[in-house]
Amino acid sequence: MSDSVSAALSVPDLIAKKRDGGTHTQAELETLVLGFTRGEVPDYQMSAWLMAVFLRGMTPEETAALTLVMARSGDQLDLGSLKDTVDKHSTGGVGDKTSLVLTPMLAALGLTVAKMSGRGLAHTGGTIDKLESIPGWSPDLSEDRFLAQARDVGLALIGQTKDLAPADGKLYALRDVTATVPCLPLIASSIMSKKLASGAQTIVLDVKVGAGAFMTTTEQGEALARAMVDIGRRAGRNVRAVLTDMDTPLGHMAGNSLEVREALATLRGEGPSDLTELCVTLAVEALVAHGQDAAEAEGRARRTLADGSALAKFRAFVAAQGGDPAYVDAPERLDVAPDRAEVRAERGGFVVRVDALSVGRAVLALGGGRERKGEAIDPGVGVELLKKPGERVEAGEAVLRLYHRAGRGLERAQALLEAGLELADEAPAPEQLILGRVN
Ligand code: URA
Repeated sequence: MSDSVSAALSVPDLIAKKRDGGTHTQAELETLVLGFTRGEVPDYQMSAWLMAVFLRGMTPEETAALTLVMARSGDQLDLGSLKDTVDKHSTGGVGDKTSLVLTPMLAALGLTVAKMSGRGLAHTGGTIDKLESIPGWSPDLSEDRFLAQARDVGLALIGQTKDLAPADGKLYALRDVTATVPCLPLIASSIMSKKLASGAQTIVLDVKVGAGAFMTTTEQGEALARAMVDIGRRAGRNVRAVLTDMDTPLGHMAGNSLEVREALATLRGEGPSDLTELCVTLAVEALVAHGQDAAEAEGRARRTLADGSALAKFRAFVAAQGGDPAYVDAPERLDVAPDRAEVRAERGGFVVRVDALSVGRAVLALGGGRERKGEAIDPGVGVELLKKPGERVEAGEAVLRLYHRAGRGLERAQALLEAGLELADEAPAPEQLILGRVN
């Protein structure tokens, strides 16, 4: 410990300091966070400290120091042998299959994606779960194989390990049960500690805003984006954030196999416009971070979808991680639940709202997500948005389709979707997908 004053402070002193609105030094944060990670600071003291942070906040310097302490609490990936490394992170959404499309686009653009991805929790999906709906594909690679694949293919994805930023895993579990998750410095440090430990030089953040996201207003999303970009700058990384709408699910599909099918259509240049635009926008951010002109970058990003080069990268990536590439060319073979049901419009008019949170919860009710870590999921179930906000419907017309297995969770899923569906006589104002940028 470098600071002789903080060396003298006990854990109760440090809790009291934050309770009274004080600012911690890096050494104090090491005492708390590393002590907690090693099991020396008990849950009850850390819970009290987390609540003090929740109520008192943290300065930008303090948030950056906390992030660095968390990032260095375990292993750190060394991507130094790879060129132009880029990572992408989404703060979590419904129907968010962006990584499936964007990462092969980035690889096709000559950047290197050596990325750690998460599993779905609660109403939000996870990239690893989605990819596992491709038979044979596995997120388990040794570090050597991971790096070699990233070098050879330009794209390698692994699951989150407990050894990387272990402080975050322990802190998140405690935050989850102490009502301290929705706290800006804690969210920013949690996300960025994993990104810093994952080693990429450039990090593109997709900060979701709306009903289906952690941040429900643009102001909150912007504050989170600024905090994360600031942390990256202080840590010497190039971080760019885009704020995007998550009132409505992205694309038309929510549910693992359904989302892989939709991502493959997008990689073929036949995807929904919102998903395509978001992927192009994020790819442009990554290219601009690597010194390219934005207009030129956009043309290059679009070409990867039109000329099949992103799809070819995805096929090579799937095969390298044990997946059967035949599914990439015949996505209709992916397992989708055989039973169908529809939610129909009670009246004619315009679709005003298809609530993302309701759709996410409906997928969960059908068995497509998990309430707790480690639960098994059914990749084949899900929800299809046959109509999106702004579209006209006739009375009795199907608006949402549910893919279920023998009625499991169907009643609850239907009730959730009906509650999240709003129709009106007037067309709503067009939805804006890209709400802002923070660089
Ligand atoms: N995602 C994270 O990784 N951490 C948070 O605290 C919130 C979202």
